Amino acid sequence: MIALISAVIFCFLTAASAQDCSREGQFTDSAGSYVFTWSVQSNFDYVDCTVQVNTAANRWVAVGFSEDRLMPDTDVIIGADDGTNRFVQDRWNGQSRVAGPSLDPMQNIMDTSTTRSGDRLTISFTKPLISPDISGRDENLTECRNVLWAFGGTTTFENGNVTALGGHSNRGVFQNQLCLCTSGASVAAVVSLAMMIVAVLLAAGGSIF
Ligand code: HEM
Ligand SMILES: *[C@@H]1O[C@H](CO)[C@@H](O)[C@H](O)[C@H]1NC(C)=O
Ligand SMILES: *[C@@H]1O[C@H](CO)[C@@H](O)[C@H](O)[C@H]1NC(C)=O
Repeated sequence: MIALISAVIFCFLTAASAQDCSREGQFTDSAGSYVFTWSVQSNFDYVDCTVQVNTAANRWVAVGFSEDRLMPDTDVIIGADDGTNRFVQDRWNGQSRVAGPSLDPMQNIMDTSTTRSGDRLTISFTKPLISPDISGRDENLTECRNVLWAFGGTTTFENGNVTALGGHSNRGVFQNQLCLCTSGASVAAVVSLAMMIVAVLLAAGGSIF
């Protein structure tokens, strides 16, 4: 009986200490317009992301990863596609909100693409979980991060290059944090599985203790 009780308590404690993480998933804003989708690659080094929103042709969409829930100090991926010109860039929101996100000297996103189908704008990119940019203009995604969303600012292109970005018409922060799985089976999950097996054996064996 003591064995059973202690095993149950042990199980409960190990299960409670296991960090929930998702390898893939989706966050949608309450209006149902903005959708952020992610999928960690099988190597657990990169995450494939897409951002979709309904917005007019000359407007941008962005996602931000941050340690807090404010616009400053946020790692931003922003893009637009007006049917003729397009961009997806790695940027950083500094202290000034009105300044908007400035371009990172080191671009740490890969496999970027954009599509526009009527009002539906989609940007896609792949981001390393541990960024090689150690200048402080990227967030590692190996820890849980807040996810900021924004869209609807004007985008100005000159000769195909983006030269100015206006402020968002809509912005917010998703309620849940983004907690990416950084390995196939977390140590905590393996430990709690082992504990559950021990608990079953102890319960079946009766009074070992
Ligand atoms: C040119 C680009 C941008 C400009 C001019 C701008 C400007 C501003 C300003 C003036 C505010 C405070 C007033 C308000 O609540 O609207 C604000 C708030 C906010 N912005 Fe931006 N923003 C830009 C881009 C972004 C991006 C790229 C993101 C995230 C991906 C973002 C996320 C937010 C959030 C979450 C807030 C509310 C929380 C806070 O005040 O810190 N913004 N922005
Ligand atoms: C990201 O993680 C790497 C490796 O642990 C570390 O060297 C780097 O400073 C981290 N970057 C940031 C912005 O914290
Ligand atoms: C646009 O960007 C390209 C490539 O970076 C550059 O060669 C060109 O000069 C730019 N054009 C303008 C008008 O800035």
